[in-house]
Amino acid sequence: MCGITAYCGNDFALPFLMQGLSKLEYRGYDSAGVTTLESGQLLTVKCKGRLKNLEDELTKYEIKGNIGIGHTRWATHGIPSNLNSHPHTNEDQTISLVHNGIIENYRELKEELIKKGYQFQSETDSEVVVQLLDLYDAGNIFEATKKVLKKIEGSYALCIVSTKEPDKIVVAKKDSPLIIGKVNNAYVAASDIPALLEYTKDVYFLNDLEMAIMEKEKISFFTHDGQSIEKKLVTIPYDLEAAQKDGYDTFMLKEIYEQPHVINETLRGRINHQEIVLDELKEIDFSKFNKIYFVACGTAYHACLCGAQVLEKAIKIPVTTTPASEFRYSDPLIDEYTLAIFVSQSGETADTLAALRLAKQKSATTIAIANVLGSTISRDAQYVLYTCAGPEIAVASTKAYTTQLVLLFLFAYYVAQQLGKEVDHALIQQLSHIPEYVHNILKDHQVFENYAKMLENLHDAYFIGRRLDYASVLEGALKLKEVSYVHADAYVAGELKHGPIALIEAGSVVIAVATQPHIAAKTISNIQETIARGAKVILFTTHGEKVKNVENTYYLPDVAPTLQSILVAIPLQLIAYYTAGIKGCDVDKPRNLAKSVTVE
Ligand code: M6R
Repeated sequence: MCGITAYCGNDFALPFLMQGLSKLEYRGYDSAGVTTLESGQLLTVKCKGRLKNLEDELTKYEIKGNIGIGHTRWATHGIPSNLNSHPHTNEDQTISLVHNGIIENYRELKEELIKKGYQFQSETDSEVVVQLLDLYDAGNIFEATKKVLKKIEGSYALCIVSTKEPDKIVVAKKDSPLIIGKVNNAYVAASDIPALLEYTKDVYFLNDLEMAIMEKEKISFFTHDGQSIEKKLVTIPYDLEAAQKDGYDTFMLKEIYEQPHVINETLRGRINHQEIVLDELKEIDFSKFNKIYFVACGTAYHACLCGAQVLEKAIKIPVTTTPASEFRYSDPLIDEYTLAIFVSQSGETADTLAALRLAKQKSATTIAIANVLGSTISRDAQYVLYTCAGPEIAVASTKAYTTQLVLLFLFAYYVAQQLGKEVDHALIQQLSHIPEYVHNILKDHQVFENYAKMLENLHDAYFIGRRLDYASVLEGALKLKEVSYVHADAYVAGELKHGPIALIEAGSVVIAVATQPHIAAKTISNIQETIARGAKVILFTTHGEKVKNVENTYYLPDVAPTLQSILVAIPLQLIAYYTAGIKGCDVDKPRNLAKSVTVE
């Protein structure tokens, strides 16, 4: 997830570009850059790190161009560096572009271009687009863009400038947002409304497979095939602060609703027909391992609990999951035949980092699963896989969790595939459709809001589940306590009668998850024991299960049991969210918590 800006008008372009990038910094902040067009020449300035670094660098220049493009990056291909930063330009310095999205077939395209003699400056997928434009450009950048769009697969919002036509910006969109604003004497564009609002509330929403040519006092819209289309100017009814949250009340809610999109981004390019593609790991010989550890903290640890079960079942090698704070002091049994996987959204968690360093010291092969590119954990591990959740701003992790699950399942089946084990291809197929299921569950938000009302006046809530469902309820309970301050505990359902059931009394609320067919009936009979003691139960299960006496039952979509752990996360997040809302808690910044826990 990156942020892009573009200006084509009569004033200097830079002020718009920079204010827009500052509004978009939440979309990515590992590097930033701008290109302006002045006297028929491109001037590109880009810097690794926060936007402030770019601002400081720009003080060395006098920038007067009236046309320009800008970018703030959240890296997906290639570490944060000056060379990997956008804008990317061709060798002749005649074309420059900014890109948000992922070009899935960039490897093949890059190989083709290298064979034609092109040299690449960066490790990014985006650079293939500018090199392709160079290949096709015969003086009409719009025509060249049309040809390039036919070659590239994946997602993109693109803004392109060319010195051969110094009075226009060509923009194109597919699966990444791009909005064009109309100002008195200019047209402006950005990935998101906040970047435009200081200048205008009058916008055009570009749809997928649409393009536009922005000129100083003219805008023209087209399909990707070049057919001219009409678009309506829309006036945005809200202010800047509301826009940063995309119209949502909080970042947590926005991030919950982003899940269909970011799961899609995490899957993108990683399933090719029947095959799972994780090229980042292709040098690993998985047959040498006799022991596997998953290590993480908090929500990431819960994701690991799921990933480990799935991996162990798929490859029949012992897999252990340990909280990082325990792992580092447990004198773990590690040697060169050990694989250790460290999962961390921020990539900076102190305990996880210490555990990783310990595993490396003891000769394990280490893999990081991280969301923040270039973070310490991702740099320290020998191999790294990235979730594509984009910046997660709310302290409570939501989209990072579901994207971790997706990636951990891909990883498990990838290892099975590499070891020649049987892989459930129907499940892989369903995994690629998970974003649609998540989208549909989100439509039932009112149901979950009503469940939240049941918790409003309670001090405690009880969560139960078995196997994968136990990991899901651990996460559900963590979410509830961290944002709503309702004390919530998660139990293995079978353990209930060994103690915790003593706590159940009239009015207690029990949230049960029973989605695993081989044990769901057992959990459902455990909830009957709590109902007999006066508990009110909220049950998440699937249509095949026989449920009696449970007033609040939500049936999850009919997908493979493993994948239910992704789906059930959504209602559990929303229950926590709405409970916190009803109680008036600050959901984005819960008390006593920090987004990144860099101390022990
Ligand atoms: O950045 P990390 O994934 O390493 O963070 C781990 C935990 O601190 C984090 O998941 C924490 O539990 C969240 N607040 C949960 O919502």
